[in-house]
Amino acid sequence: MKQFTVNPLSNPIKTTISVPSDKSISHRSIIIASIANGKTEIKNFLPSQDCLNTLKIMQQLGVEINYFNNYETITVYGKGLHSLSESKNILNCGNSGTTIRLLSGLLSGQNFLSILTGDDSLLNRPMGRVIEPLTLMGAKIAGREHNTKAPIVISPSVLHAITYEMPVSSAQVKSGIMLAALQAKGETKIIEKEKSRDHTERMLSAFGATIKYEKNEIIIGSEQKLTAQSIFVPGDISSAAFFMAACSIIPQSEIVLQKVLVNPTRTGIINALKKMGVKIEFTNKKEISGEPIADIFVTSENLTAIEIKGNSVPLLIDEIPILCIIMAQAKGRSIIKDAKELRFKESDRIKTMAQVLKKLGVEINELEDGLEIEGLAGKPFTIDPSIEWPKHSDHRIAMSVAIAGLKANEPVLVPGTEWISTSFPNFDKLINQLHMAAV
Ligand code: S3P
Repeated sequence: MKQFTVNPLSNPIKTTISVPSDKSISHRSIIIASIANGKTEIKNFLPSQDCLNTLKIMQQLGVEINYFNNYETITVYGKGLHSLSESKNILNCGNSGTTIRLLSGLLSGQNFLSILTGDDSLLNRPMGRVIEPLTLMGAKIAGREHNTKAPIVISPSVLHAITYEMPVSSAQVKSGIMLAALQAKGETKIIEKEKSRDHTERMLSAFGATIKYEKNEIIIGSEQKLTAQSIFVPGDISSAAFFMAACSIIPQSEIVLQKVLVNPTRTGIINALKKMGVKIEFTNKKEISGEPIADIFVTSENLTAIEIKGNSVPLLIDEIPILCIIMAQAKGRSIIKDAKELRFKESDRIKTMAQVLKKLGVEINELEDGLEIEGLAGKPFTIDPSIEWPKHSDHRIAMSVAIAGLKANEPVLVPGTEWISTSFPNFDKLINQLHMAAV
């Protein structure tokens, strides 16, 4: 995607939007179908760069995967957990934390050597959090900088079950451990203090695995029979959030977002927006492939400041950059805390958003684990020429700036738009749709 300019909107938006498919579920559909038995058909897969990296890697590991209609339909011929084969090449996860952390777990139990790497951003992200528990399970796994960073090298080993209390809330790490647990002797217990997204649990169950739950423990044994399924990937609530934001900051707007995932481990952004005063309703609610989906009807209202902290943070962790833009339009001082994890995403999202907000003329205070944001009470953002846009390799920062551009005092040349395709290939077209729909 080339750099693009977003022009301010002066009229309310009234439109219906189909957002791209869920990234987390798309990754898992390819990985789990690859280790199941039989032909899985995946409909509505997300052909973003991150998910295509996962698809390519599973092909490099010997799985037959075919795709049709620009990846609209994918068929995966799984032959079970022990059918993967050694790749001749290093496996390149690109910008994708989900790919590297889930596959570290899966490959730890395999009988061959694997080397996982990624782009500059991924090489700087913490990998000790997945290497540590896998090592406790008996994996022979090593990483650069004393086992804290990728590239990651995994040699054959025999895994055993562990009981593991998650030190940070991370669905990627939890899922990596679960995929290793399928190959470990005994029952693995994962204790989560704060619940993270549960798509791996739901999809493994949909494929026939038995998973037990006790309070905040997930218990999973090996020798599970996974059988091929038909999967439909719903719209990504993290992508939908950018359009909920557009609707929230442009007065008198109404947007319907179709067929969006509304899994309660992902709907923190909806709870936050409702608290700020935005009207949100679900219609056509149903369950598909073990996940709840609905159409989401958003109506803008005056925004009031809120505080986000504690166990509500994992439920909207990816939406915090765009939530900062919404908070910056609210009346009053909003606070985000207990969100240090943001510093370890595709960019340091606390630092990057602090700079974005300053550039947008917003008064902020950067905290170690969050931000305080003084809302403009609906006044347009005023671009400060004395401040640079931050340099970053982060799709969600670029999209957040683009949405802020709809409410700025001048057109905004969005920095880092080339990263948007990691999760949202047609984002620029949907921004154009908003302009066409502003009447
Ligand atoms: C993801 C989990 C989250 C999220 C990421 C996708 C997943 O990361 O931020 O975008 O698909 O499991 P963490 O596991 O690091 O919290």
